[in-house]
Amino acid sequence: MKNIVVFASGNGSNFKKIFYCIENREINGSLVMLISNNPNSGAIKFAEENKINYKVLNNHRCNNSLDKEYEIVLRDCNVDLILLAGFMKKIPKNVVRLYKKKIMNIHPALLPKYGGKGFYGMNVHNAVINSGDNYSGATVHYVNEFYDKGDVIIQKKVKIELNDDAHSLSKKVLSIEHEIYPQAIKEFCDNNKNIN
Ligand code: GRF
Repeated sequence: MKNIVVFASGNGSNFKKIFYCIENREINGSLVMLISNNPNSGAIKFAEENKINYKVLNNHRCNNSLDKEYEIVLRDCNVDLILLAGFMKKIPKNVVRLYKKKIMNIHPALLPKYGGKGFYGMNVHNAVINSGDNYSGATVHYVNEFYDKGDVIIQKKVKIELNDDAHSLSKKVLSIEHEIYPQAIKEFCDNNKNIN
């Protein structure tokens, strides 16, 4: 069984979905830890309520350099798969190098469009709505050293209706995220090799 570590900074809806898929055995993995930079996040609250191991790693709490601290924590977890689920910090190079094709991220748009620095949260949906595109969607991709540039694993589209605004679009996209992220994770855990 794969040891999974999730990184999340915000509400944690993807984290919760992953947790339930593991609980229901839809994903053949073990959720060993949540890592967050935000002690007040919904993700941390959920971890506390559900007795999931968690660690807050941010610049205020670590004496060690943060990059090294990540590496140590992940090594101690014996991690096989790292999942970024709304994690607002860049994963340091040392970690990316050690876990090549073992770090996934979910992005709320059809990459390579609307990716890169500054494209997070509602910024993405506002940009999509302003562009007049007919479709948006979500992308699961591997993480490399460049923001939102790693190989795409799964994408799914959603049609933008005339009456959609950034808010309604964000809801549609989030529900697609909750479908395709578990799908990608399941495939990774079922195959002993990497997908792609
Ligand atoms: C999602 O839209 C995800 O695509 C992005 O951050 C958001 C996290 O949402 N990377 P949640 O915290 O999982 O609800």
